[in-house]
Amino acid sequence: MWWKWPLLVFLCASIALCTDCPNRASNGYCVVENVTEPYNPAIFPPNERLVWIRNSTIPVFNRSLFTPLAHVENLMIHRLQIEQLELAGCDKLDILFASYNAIDRVSADEGLPLRQLHLYQNRLTDVSALRALTEIEQLYLHENLLESLRFDTFAPMRHLKILTLQRNRLRTIATGTGNKPLVMPRLEQLFLQFNQLPHLDTGLWRMERLRVLDVSHNQLAYLLTFLEELPALRTLGLHHNPWHCGWLFGMLERLGARELDTDADGLIGIDEEASCPGLRLEDRLCCSENATSPDPVLLLVSRTGIVDELQQQVRGAKRRVETLEEAQRKQSHQFGELAGRLAAIERLCTERSNDTP
Ligand SMILES: *[C@@H]1O[C@H](CO)[C@@H](O)[C@H](O)[C@H]1NC(C)=O
Ligand SMILES: *[C@@H]1O[C@H](CO)[C@@H](O)[C@H](O)[C@H]1NC(C)=O
Ligand SMILES: *[C@@H]1O[C@H](CO)[C@@H](O)[C@H](O)[C@H]1NC(C)=O
Ligand SMILES: *[C@@H]1O[C@H](CO)[C@@H](O)[C@H](O)[C@H]1NC(C)=O
Repeated sequence: MWWKWPLLVFLCASIALCTDCPNRASNGYCVVENVTEPYNPAIFPPNERLVWIRNSTIPVFNRSLFTPLAHVENLMIHRLQIEQLELAGCDKLDILFASYNAIDRVSADEGLPLRQLHLYQNRLTDVSALRALTEIEQLYLHENLLESLRFDTFAPMRHLKILTLQRNRLRTIATGTGNKPLVMPRLEQLFLQFNQLPHLDTGLWRMERLRVLDVSHNQLAYLLTFLEELPALRTLGLHHNPWHCGWLFGMLERLGARELDTDADGLIGIDEEASCPGLRLEDRLCCSENATSPDPVLLLVSRTGIVDELQQQVRGAKRRVETLEEAQRKQSHQFGELAGRLAAIERLCTERSNDTP
C-alpha cells in the first residue's frame, strides 16, 4: 500500500507513535523477521498498525501470535509456510494478506472486523468456516484446491463486494439455501473462471449489483438462467466452454438486447478460430452442436423460484390496489354523506332565508 506511506510519515511527524519500529520497509510496513517458537512477544513492535512478518516458518498461525499483534490493522504474512490459520484475537485487524502459504485449514471467530482477506495460492478445500466474517468486503480465494462449494457460506457476508474463486477445481456449486433465494446485496464482482463446472444454476441468486461475472474456461454447456436475477450485469466471461449452440445463440441475443458492450474484447471474451472444433457464433464464441442440451424441465424448475417471487409481487400489488380501492370506496361514501349533509344545511339555510321577512 504505497499510498499509506505518506500518511504514515504525516502521522509519525504528528504523533510519536511509529518510532517503535526498528525496521521499516519502503512500503511502510514494520518488518519483523525470524519469528520462531516459543514466540517472544518482545519481538513484535507495540502499537504498530502495519506489520510484515518475513523470513520465518510458522506452521500454525493462531491466537498465540495474534495476541502480541493486537494493535495491528494491516498484516502481511505471505510465504511463511502456514498450514493452519485461526483468525482469533485479531480484534483490530482490517486487512490480512496470507497468500502463498500452504493453508489447508482455516477458522474464524465471530464478530471480527476484518474487511479484506487474501488467501489465494494456498491449499484450501473447505472455506465454510469463513461464514463468521460478516464484515468482509473483499475475499480472495483463487488458486486453491476447492472442489465443491456451498454458496450460502457467503450469504452472511452482507458487505461482500469482490469474491474470487478462479483457478480452483470446482465441479459443483450448490446454492445451499433450500428453495430460498440467495441474497448477496453488495456483490459486484464474482470470478469463477478456470474451474471444471459442468453446471451452474443461478436461478436462486439475487445479486442486484453484480457487474462482473466470469465463468470462462469451465465445462459449461449452458446456464440455467435468463439473467433476470442479475439486473446490473455489464461483463460476462463466457469463452472457452463447450456451449450448446442453440443455448449460446439465445444468450448472445439476450446480451445484445441488454446492450452489454459485446464489441469490446475481453468483456464476453473470444474463442480463437483455431481452438474451435465446432461453430463460432458472431465470430466470437465457440459452441458445439452435439453439446448437452439444456433440459427444459430443469430450466422450468430452476425458474419456479423466480416465478413464485414474481407472483408474490403481483399478489402484493393486487392487495395494495384492493386496499386503495377500499379506501376510495370509504372515501366516496364519506363524500356522499358529507354532500348529503351539506345539501341538508343548504336546504335549511334557504328555508330560513325564505322564512325571514
Ligand atoms: C534473521 O535471520 C537471518 C538469517 O539467519 C539473518 O541474516 C537476519 O539478520 C535475521 N534478522 C533479524 C531481524 O534478526
Ligand atoms: C531472509 O532469509 C534469506 C534466506 O533464507 C536470506 O537470504 C535473506 O537475506 C534474509 N533476509 C533478511 C532481511 O534477513
Ligand atoms: C497455537 O499453535 C501452537 C503451535 O501449534 C500451539 O502450541 C498453541 O497452543 C496454539 N495456541 C492456541 C491459543 O491455540
Ligand atoms: C461432438 O462431436 C465432436 C466431433 O464429432 C467430438 O469430437 C466431440 O467429442 C463431441 N462432443 C460431445 C460433447 O459429445
